[in-house]
Amino acid sequence: MRMRNKHRRPTPFRCSAGSRCSLSAVVWSLVGCVLILHLYSLVHHRDGVEEDVLVRLNRLPLIRELEEIEEETIQIPPPRKRSPRAEKRRPKRPTTLIDEFLDENSQIRHLFFPGLRTAVDPRKEAGNDSLYFYPGRIWLDTDGNPIQAHGGGILYVERYRTYYWYGENKDGPTYHAHDKAPARVDIIGVSCYSSKDLWTWKNEGIVLAGEETNLTHDLHKLNVLERPKVIYNDKTGKYVMWMHVDDANYTKASVGIAVSEYPTGPFEYLYSKRPHGFESRDMTIFKDDDGVAYLIYSSEDNSELHIGPLTDDYLDVTHAMRRVLVGKHREAPALFKYQGTYYMITSGCTGWAPNEALAHAAESIMGQWETMGNPCLGGNKIFRDTTFFAQSTYVLPLPGLPGSFIFMADRWNPADLRNSRYMWLPLTVGGAADVPLEYNFGFPLWSRVSIYWHRRWRLPDRWWALQ
Ligand code: DGJ
Repeated sequence: MRMRNKHRRPTPFRCSAGSRCSLSAVVWSLVGCVLILHLYSLVHHRDGVEEDVLVRLNRLPLIRELEEIEEETIQIPPPRKRSPRAEKRRPKRPTTLIDEFLDENSQIRHLFFPGLRTAVDPRKEAGNDSLYFYPGRIWLDTDGNPIQAHGGGILYVERYRTYYWYGENKDGPTYHAHDKAPARVDIIGVSCYSSKDLWTWKNEGIVLAGEETNLTHDLHKLNVLERPKVIYNDKTGKYVMWMHVDDANYTKASVGIAVSEYPTGPFEYLYSKRPHGFESRDMTIFKDDDGVAYLIYSSEDNSELHIGPLTDDYLDVTHAMRRVLVGKHREAPALFKYQGTYYMITSGCTGWAPNEALAHAAESIMGQWETMGNPCLGGNKIFRDTTFFAQSTYVLPLPGLPGSFIFMADRWNPADLRNSRYMWLPLTVGGAADVPLEYNFGFPLWSRVSIYWHRRWRLPDRWWALQ
């Protein structure tokens, strides 16, 4: 016999006397709601898929070859012979490819940092190699010097039909400010390169220079200037640069702002600040279709990202700010938009050492941001787990090729930062995300972001026809 528990408190879901529905009715309504939501998301997703199929059909001849999976094998070299005494004194643990990558004396260093002989050189009649990107190789400008634009980003200026690539000029000696400090190069400044074809780059010089003598200046050479990004303000007609400004110990954790009349500078440095009163390290800015621009930065000891709109003149942040990817410890944000959805690639926080990239998506730029998993495809597992031994810095939309982007990343060389390499790879948006999303009952709402490994690739002919 079932005993009634006299002490049981009435559930707030109970119906009025005489009705037997109570809890079960509520449960069934909830189940109904969940089913309706599932149906909605399925239809929504189907719409997305159909649209996506159309776009994919459209761009099939354009980028099919770029979406091919290219495998890569790298063997860890056999350990160097050591004397039995040395082995006993300090037994050597097995090395990983990341150890090899970080070891400046590795026998396979040339695989990660190939020498000048194989440099991409736009001055040469390159024959078959012309216009081909070779991720990781030295890339020369039109004067024959290695391009110095690390942690950079690209601005396309319609009026001049020209791309401008801004980045850190790290063309100085690498050293450590003290025992525990990360490898660094004195601030030289922000370089700018211009190009019509994204392959041939002319050096436009240093558009924002480091400060040689004034020790109190934010950009004094002993400080840190990283990840400069430039956007154009249609209202003021000015080019605005935002950058990460820090001291050698990364405790200042601020953003710096500079402005110019021209894309090729000179940029006037205005000031630095902690946006919204918070620490700001790796950062980027993003200009939306409606002209509103946003700052995205790693904060709270890099444990989360903050995002917020800039003022109309792009010279400051507004009061609005949202914390996103809280507790996820992500940095190196690179944000882009496709078919009304916002996407972002981030890295983990391991200094100059490479780690796994993640793709995120959001319907509103201020969040909720969801994580969709590792976007890297091809190469081999260690390539994919290390973002091809590189770290995100920018994602460039390719006008005329909907859903196609260039993923720009830095293959940092902590032993010799000036000799870090650029990893440009094709990025596409399409197909279902392969990680169930946290906030949508496990249904993928967004398309997959895919970054394809290629040893050598070029922009498709159709893109060239549009130029
Ligand atoms: C990782 C960041 O993404 C880089 O920009 C740089 O700040 C290094 N850390 C310094 O260790």
